[in-house]
Amino acid sequence: MKILGIESSCDDTSAAVVCDSSIIEERILSNIISSQIDIHKEYGGVVPEYAARNHMYSIEECINKALNKANININDIDAIAATSGPGLIGGLLVGTVTAKTIAIMANKPFIAINHLEGHLLTARLCNRIDFPFLLILASGGHFIFAEILDINQYNILGQTIDDSAGECLDKVAKMLGLPYPGGPAIEKLSEQGDSNRFKFPMPLLRRKGCDVSFSGLKTAARLLIEKLEEKDKADMAASFQMAIIKAIINKAKKAVDMCIQNINSIVLAGGVAANKLLRLNVEQLAYDNKVKFYAPPITLCSDNAAMIAWAAIERIHKYGYYSSPITQITRPRWNIDNIM
Ligand SMILES: Nc1ncnc2c1ncn2[C@@H]1O[C@H](COP(=O)(O)OP(=O)(O)OP(=O)(O)O)[C@@H](O)[C@H]1O
Ligand SMILES: [Mg+2]
Repeated sequence: MKILGIESSCDDTSAAVVCDSSIIEERILSNIISSQIDIHKEYGGVVPEYAARNHMYSIEECINKALNKANININDIDAIAATSGPGLIGGLLVGTVTAKTIAIMANKPFIAINHLEGHLLTARLCNRIDFPFLLILASGGHFIFAEILDINQYNILGQTIDDSAGECLDKVAKMLGLPYPGGPAIEKLSEQGDSNRFKFPMPLLRRKGCDVSFSGLKTAARLLIEKLEEKDKADMAASFQMAIIKAIINKAKKAVDMCIQNINSIVLAGGVAANKLLRLNVEQLAYDNKVKFYAPPITLCSDNAAMIAWAAIERIHKYGYYSSPITQITRPRWNIDNIM
């Protein structure tokens, strides 16, 4: 089975061809990503209108390149999957309308995929991971702890009550005068800094459950940055990165305890999962709990269409046959416990 995947929910236009080979290394036949970072960098964040327009300009070329690299034409594809939410509505419409049009023209099924389901199943594209597992999803727009019981059985244990970790890293990076996207910039600068230099509060310390909050850390960072000298920036970046990681690990410990079933592993996913220190800390948490640790390779942590095509494959495997109505709506907000 070969699926054409399309991703356009934020600032990456991507098209991929993925197959369901039992040999993991042979699954991704192509994964073309056209990043808009250079366009949005000037504004310090994603400008939705520019993002939508640029998806429109590059989507056709991405799809053609993905098919060419996979060395197949559209007739060899079994279904076309596209991110249908959550995300920026303009970009989502470009991707879904394109996918639906190709599906109609080529007489193939259309499959609407939840972007977060794409992130959460990426680790299974690259590893053999059994259910159930604890998911830590840390991306640009979301932060979720969930017990993943099976495909489409996602039990949310906790989530952020305000900003996501990625958003917080991006905003603090901007305050530090670092380029967009902020997460990788903070990680790089942290390498030269002392993570013990600045102290941050531990969010929601006394609250039961595993909801998290990152906005207080952002405010604490702003107050420190107002008085910061240039020479202290690396220490600030390292201390802030460590504060975010401690906030995640503190609540992740509770999330492990909240799982109803005996989990086999802890899976870290989403753009922030590219952070090496966070990966190390989650790996340690998994080790302490005698379960395995998985995260996608760094190149597949941020947005890409291979994860969308793979989520479609997982759904087809689970349900035997799976497709979405061509009238399926596009959803800017769409959590993983309500996919259908
Ligand atoms: N090495 C890194 N360390 C920390 N954060 C990182 C790193 N690399 C990327 N990020 C962060 O990951 C985020 C982007 O992740 P992703 O592409 O999954 O987000 P998104 O698609 O915009 O949001 P969502 O998936 O919630 O819709 C950004 O906030 C970025 O700063
Ligand atoms: Mg994403």
